[in-house]
Amino acid sequence: MRLRFRFLGVLCLAILPELLPAADGGPTLLIDADNRASISLDGDWHVIVDPYDNGYYDFRMQLRADGYFLNEKKGTTNKLIEYDFAKSAPLKVPGDWNSQRDSLFFYEGTVWYEKDFQYQRKPRTRTFLHVGAANYVAQVFVNGKKACEHEGGFTPFDCEVTTLVKDGDNFVVIHVNDQRTRDGVPTLNTDWWNYGGLTRDVSLIETPESFVDDYSLQLQRTDASTIAGWVHVVGARAAAVTIKIPELNVTRNATTDAQGKATFSFKATNLQPWSPGSPKLYAVEIDVGDDHLKDSIGFRTVEVQGDNILLNGKPVFLRGVSIHAEAPYRSGRAWSQQDAETLLGWARELGVNFVRLAHYPHDERMTRLADRMGIMVWSEVPVYWMIEWGNPATLANATSQLHEMIRRDRNKASVVLWSVANETPNTPVRLAFLKSLIATARAEDSSRLLTAALLVTTSPESRDGIRTKVIDDPLGEYLDVLGCNEYIGWYEGTPDLAARTRWESKYNKPLIMSEFGGDARFGLHGAPDQRWTEEYQENIYRQQIAMLKQIPFLRGLSPWILMDFRSPRRTLPEIQDFYNRKGLVSNEGQKKKAFFVLQEYYNSLAAKPN
Ligand code: GCU
Repeated sequence: MRLRFRFLGVLCLAILPELLPAADGGPTLLIDADNRASISLDGDWHVIVDPYDNGYYDFRMQLRADGYFLNEKKGTTNKLIEYDFAKSAPLKVPGDWNSQRDSLFFYEGTVWYEKDFQYQRKPRTRTFLHVGAANYVAQVFVNGKKACEHEGGFTPFDCEVTTLVKDGDNFVVIHVNDQRTRDGVPTLNTDWWNYGGLTRDVSLIETPESFVDDYSLQLQRTDASTIAGWVHVVGARAAAVTIKIPELNVTRNATTDAQGKATFSFKATNLQPWSPGSPKLYAVEIDVGDDHLKDSIGFRTVEVQGDNILLNGKPVFLRGVSIHAEAPYRSGRAWSQQDAETLLGWARELGVNFVRLAHYPHDERMTRLADRMGIMVWSEVPVYWMIEWGNPATLANATSQLHEMIRRDRNKASVVLWSVANETPNTPVRLAFLKSLIATARAEDSSRLLTAALLVTTSPESRDGIRTKVIDDPLGEYLDVLGCNEYIGWYEGTPDLAARTRWESKYNKPLIMSEFGGDARFGLHGAPDQRWTEEYQENIYRQQIAMLKQIPFLRGLSPWILMDFRSPRRTLPEIQDFYNRKGLVSNEGQKKKAFFVLQEYYNSLAAKPN
């Protein structure tokens, strides 16, 4: 993991190693963390907004021994202390800072978070500080000692703090910095708001000395009555592992191998497969010594056969919509159960069986709820636009975020697609970068389909005015499902151009039209050829749907986008005002006319026998 302040880090780390608090190792990842018993640290945290990183470096730009991470109080030492968390105003955790204080609306930089907590250590127990997400780089300190650090704004991490917590009074300080960087993932430019902070839950999780840190249980494509998988145990040799699925009368035992992994394969007779029409979840219990995990898992298979997507062996059409993690009504980073129920509730009203959670992993509540509602999910890492393709640190970062995304959701039946990129340039160095990510995803999870949102080339108009879009991105060779973003009628020509557009693909693979649409201000009305009106957006959808129906290898769509979302790029006064208005629903929850056009199409598809 690299520190944010590289240009200083090397200098200071070389000179002042004794000043750096002892690191307690990098973050681990606990599986099924949201089902484990935990001590919530959500709520008010004292914060210090620190644009010059004064809490890390003194005026000589030297690493400070008395950094804010020590949480020292003036009067308790003769040192000059120029901060006091206890007297600093709070912010709510979870929650981005931009939407909690007007003065932080545009702020990008460092915010120090501090929380006091009582704790009672227990024998033979390991303690982890769980962070659901911190955007973008986080350094975690407990009782003044470095616990771990993490880069990536949308995936969970767990810092072991067993040797740092004490009985009675404790405090945790988390340094969060969300400055965008050229070598970051995402990089400098995105079309969404860079909401910074502790944007998801923070808690303490206790495990026995040996515990389950990962498992995978999947229905087999080759034999849909067999569940196979493995359980990984940390801290024990030849551990006895028991898996129970009471409703299937399954109890199986196995022992971990030298790598800590116990493998399973068993018949699951009378299993009800998970599907949008019947989102059956089974209670699964995993016991290893004193560690007892409970999960709710849906079992299904997903695969491609030629240009078809098969769910449980049958062709399926993905009636979808794209969603950003923008909080309905209040705006800001979405994280709560209410946010998830509102967003997926609107999607269900639209008639979807599928959502594209763009452009990064969303809060785990979204994939848990999609499991329960029977909504298939496209989940993606923020490898977005102009990533630094030739930088090994950038690839390591993207790989780490991909690994964390897969680790968190690998047992969620709703997640059927992992996406490795969005609208990236067709160059050899980018192809090498993405092939590496694809290899990682396939190695970590062979049960799901791999995709990416591609751009296409367009042939010149023929004499009769017809032009052809060809999906020929070399990345397509390595994907299972082709995603494609196009904006005919908004960025490209007028809506009627769709009627003069044909589609071809170099690959015999399923296509999901992963983005199309146009901006409309809710309540602004006019002629169908008047941009920014609801009628214009409605016209785009009508023309797009007529075109999409003609694509023989189309197997799904996720129009851009369910709800208006904040973006620093969208500044048109009285229309955008820092919102991208391509939502079918306004950020105030108002449904635009195009919502009902798509809803009518999806209801017609749903009425058709598969
Ligand atoms: C792009 C991109 C989205 C963006 C959208 C738009 O293709 O993938 O992140 O918001 O189009 O321009 O509205």
